[in-house]
Amino acid sequence: MDITMSDIEAIRARHSVRNYKPEAIAPETLALLKAKIEELNAAGDLHLQLIENAGSTYNRLLNRAMGLSSAPSVIACIGKDSENLDQRVGYYGEQLVLYAQKLGLNTCWAGTFNRKNIGGEYGEEERLVISIAIGYGEDQGNPHRSKSADQVSEAAGDRPEWFEKGVELALLAPTAVNQQKFLIRLNADSSVDFIDNTKLLGQVDLGIVRYHFEVGSGVSCKP
Ligand SMILES: Cc1cc2nc3c(=O)[nH]c(=O)nc-3n(C[C@H](O)[C@H](O)[C@H](O)COP(=O)(O)O)c2cc1C
Repeated sequence: MDITMSDIEAIRARHSVRNYKPEAIAPETLALLKAKIEELNAAGDLHLQLIENAGSTYNRLLNRAMGLSSAPSVIACIGKDSENLDQRVGYYGEQLVLYAQKLGLNTCWAGTFNRKNIGGEYGEEERLVISIAIGYGEDQGNPHRSKSADQVSEAAGDRPEWFEKGVELALLAPTAVNQQKFLIRLNADSSVDFIDNTKLLGQVDLGIVRYHFEVGSGVSCKP
């Protein structure tokens, strides 16, 4: 555990992990994780929930084949339905994922799972967006293959250093099936647009990308 680790360090250290040790999350770690969830739920108007016993959330054949069925715990990403719910889940959920990395835990965002089995509590008009598998990994995962900065970004004029740094960290963001189908555009007035080019969980991807770009550039990209 190293909660003094910076977000940049956590981003560089984190990779999806799909094989977990059977151990439950240690009590002290659990308390910190739950406090962070509360903080992020307040900041993002979300209802993220840690389900300590993942039960049969990952009992689908695909999840078993990938190893995800070994995850001891899961985070149900739930929130009140709104136009930007998926992006908020990505933006705040990734902050939780990076915090988990600092706590010595491993994670994997997972859109494919058994929705009936995850459990979780639903307030009025709330919707389950996605799951995050969490626990102590058997390994630390591996860096993903990546597109180049030119493939995911464009600029109206020069590319300032803050923009380059933001794009660099956005390229380290997890995306569904590592698709990286986002576009980050720097406009002439220095504003930045985040554009999603896919239907498959693209809005969650974009929320994650927003947070990574924010860490790299220092520019707030809250959805
Ligand atoms: C929105 C989203 C959905 C994902 N769904 C799954 C999934 O259903 N199963 C899985 O094994 N991995 C899933 N992943 C993990 C991606 O495959 C992984 O993030 C990507 O390959 C990049 O690898 P990295 O996370 O190690 O950087 C998902 C990731 C995101 C962001």
